Amino acid sequence: MGRKVMVIGSGGREHAIIWALKNRSIDIEQIYAIPGNAGIAQDASCVSMDPLDFEKVISFAKEKKVDLTIVGPEKPLAEGIVDAFEKAGLTIFGPSKSAARLEASKVWAKEIMRKYNIPTAESNIFSNYDKAVKFIHSIKNYPVVIKADGLAAGKGVFIANSVEEAKDALDKIMLEKVFGASGNQIVVEEYLEGEEASVIAVTDGQYILPFPSSQDHKAIYDGDKGPNTGGMGAYSSAPVIDYNLSKEIEIRILRPLIEGLKNEGIVYKGVVYAGLMITKDGPKVLEFNVRFGDPEAQVIIPRFKGDFYDLLYASVQGKLNSQSVNWDSQQCVCVVLASQGYPGAYEKGKVITGLDSLDEDVLVFHAGTALDNQGRLVTNGGRVLAISALGDDLLEAKTKAYMAVEKIDFDGRYFRTDIADKGLRRLGLFSDELR
Ligand code: AMP
Ligand code: GLY
Repeated sequence: MGRKVMVIGSGGREHAIIWALKNRSIDIEQIYAIPGNAGIAQDASCVSMDPLDFEKVISFAKEKKVDLTIVGPEKPLAEGIVDAFEKAGLTIFGPSKSAARLEASKVWAKEIMRKYNIPTAESNIFSNYDKAVKFIHSIKNYPVVIKADGLAAGKGVFIANSVEEAKDALDKIMLEKVFGASGNQIVVEEYLEGEEASVIAVTDGQYILPFPSSQDHKAIYDGDKGPNTGGMGAYSSAPVIDYNLSKEIEIRILRPLIEGLKNEGIVYKGVVYAGLMITKDGPKVLEFNVRFGDPEAQVIIPRFKGDFYDLLYASVQGKLNSQSVNWDSQQCVCVVLASQGYPGAYEKGKVITGLDSLDEDVLVFHAGTALDNQGRLVTNGGRVLAISALGDDLLEAKTKAYMAVEKIDFDGRYFRTDIADKGLRRLGLFSDELR
């Protein structure tokens, strides 16, 4: 009998996970997506159900005899979906609620990093508004970074260039409570200079298996300008992380984290994502996430060679050391197509064309898409599609991804034109003619 898998989530990341279940796993009989999207529906059975309604999701998994559930986004993890499934006797890939605090509480993550000597920005933590205001007036060197404690969909971080901007951020987070209870505590931290990159690994609480490095593009406009988004594109590998640095990251960051958590009584299973600043003093942690990045998943998963189901199942079983994994030496670039206006307000329901004219080796991961009442594929979110391409080097991957992007159209289509350029510059492959 084949394996039955259920994937929780509805974005490009979840589509990439499902792609790997179909193309990098054997013996998969059935894939369910809760709730999925129009593109995922071509590869899996989408079930319209609230992923946060654990009772309902659990009884569905039992009824369908699901062998493994894979959780894409952070929210269900932070709310304890893994604990609930395990209690019901079901197999689920991801960290427990207490482990997911690593992403759900920046204050707690800072405490863990401090306790286990994991390199990160110097920081101060406040739960009292007046004390925080007093502190920002005492700071001599701006900019500083102000972070709401809890989940804020990537929007709870402010880079303040002056005491006035810092005060504005404090007001928004702590007084106006624009992120709700996430604003009960804040972190004020040192501004780090350098280049950002991500290292994402699968762990079973003992063994750590890092994927190739990647780099996200969080800002909406070219040149990293404008407000932050969920991520406008990514590439892998990130040349800023060479072999020695990747070993250093494993030894100084990932290993002490997993060991430290074990010391706290937490066996961490699932994906651990280190968002890093590569500074002149070495790699420092900006944040930990407890799941694959989106769109980083769309560039690292296509490079996976092995059995993806087996990999995740082994993490749950604590048997990751039994896995033999290889990575495609091809590089991967992903460009996100977004709706005009994102990350602010945007319209939905724009007809998407051109997807059937793409080369076969281009990977199209759907994020915010739906079918309208005439059965046409339409936009249904801020980030609409993530287009990934592999190439023998970053330049070839970038060229292929953008050639595909040019063929896809919808009213208000927006994308960044400089995905992977930082990496290309570092490799000496950057040319303005390609822009
Ligand atoms: P975070 O969600 O904590 O990763 O923060 C979101 C973004 O804010 C990061 O991707 C960085 O671009 C920026 N950021 C966060 N912390 C710092 C820091 N200490 N120094 C410089 N930039 C930062
Ligand atoms: N792309 C950043 C994230 O997934 O958090």
